[in-house]
Amino acid sequence: MIILGIETSCDETAVAVVEDGRRILANLVSTQVKFHSRYGGVIPEVASRKQIELINPLLNEALKKSRKRWQDIDAVAVASRPGLIGSLLVGISTASALAYANNLPLIEVNHVEAHLYANFLEDSAIQMPFTGLVVSGGHTSIFLVRNHRDMELLGETRDDAAGEAFDKVAKLLGLSYPGGPEIEKLAERGNPEKVKFPRPYLYNSFDFSFSGLKTAVAYYIKEKFQVPGSAFKLTDRVKCDIASGFQESVVEVLVNKTIRVARKKGVKRIAIGGGVAANKRLRLLFKQEAEKYGMELFIPPLELCLDNAAMVAARAYYQNKFE
Ligand code: KG4
Ligand code: ZN
Repeated sequence: MIILGIETSCDETAVAVVEDGRRILANLVSTQVKFHSRYGGVIPEVASRKQIELINPLLNEALKKSRKRWQDIDAVAVASRPGLIGSLLVGISTASALAYANNLPLIEVNHVEAHLYANFLEDSAIQMPFTGLVVSGGHTSIFLVRNHRDMELLGETRDDAAGEAFDKVAKLLGLSYPGGPEIEKLAERGNPEKVKFPRPYLYNSFDFSFSGLKTAVAYYIKEKFQVPGSAFKLTDRVKCDIASGFQESVVEVLVNKTIRVARKKGVKRIAIGGGVAANKRLRLLFKQEAEKYGMELFIPPLELCLDNAAMVAARAYYQNKFE
């Protein structure tokens, strides 16, 4: 079964063609980062206008790349929620029109759930049940995935998402958008022990909270480096140490909490997804801790952690399967 997937929930326009929920025949992503970075974040109005410009050329290119014609496509899938309403609308109306014109079924999928399905692509050997952690710019959600139709949301962020915290702390440090990769780069040169930020665990809850941690970074900078009445500039060394201390705190909380949930639920498999899952420190600590507790760990390749349409097509394929 060949599914054409469309993803337009935020500032990426993506189209993919995937066979049997697994084999990627084409996976194209057009990012708008350069249009938004000058404003320090995504402007919803600009994002939806760009989606309209980009979607048609990308569709044609994806079909060409997959060497398929419309006659070969069995269904059209689209991430229909959650996301920026204007951006989502472009994907939904495009997918609906294509499905109607080609007499194909239209499959709507949830973008957050789709992030976990990046783990089902290509030669992954993932099986269910598993504990799934989605860490992106908009979400920090932990699921117990019993089967393709039973994804129980166990906990989520009560305030900022993990990626949002990365982006906001990056802003405090004068770095560009998106902040996650920038923080990661600085953190590699920093000492994670130099500044010890709080670890927001919210004991006895499966939820997360990262807004206090972001505030702790803001206060640390203010108290240590701001001289009233004058501008201040952080040295490269200080920025690297703050980035490293902050990253360590987020990563520790995400990893320890996920392992704790998996142990509590008696599930020995963990799968992660979302933009923050591209973080090397997070990937390494997950690997170490999963090994320590004898758990199987699944992490998508870097490019499938970020928003893409292959994960949407994969989710659509499995969503309709009874197993
Ligand atoms: O999944 P995604 O591409 O889009 C959403 O669904 O939100 O995630 C984007 C988020 C941004 O907040 C970005 O800063 C973060 O993922 N991110 C990272 C890294 N790469 C992207 N955070 C930490 N380390 C990274 N290497
Ligand atoms: Zn996403």
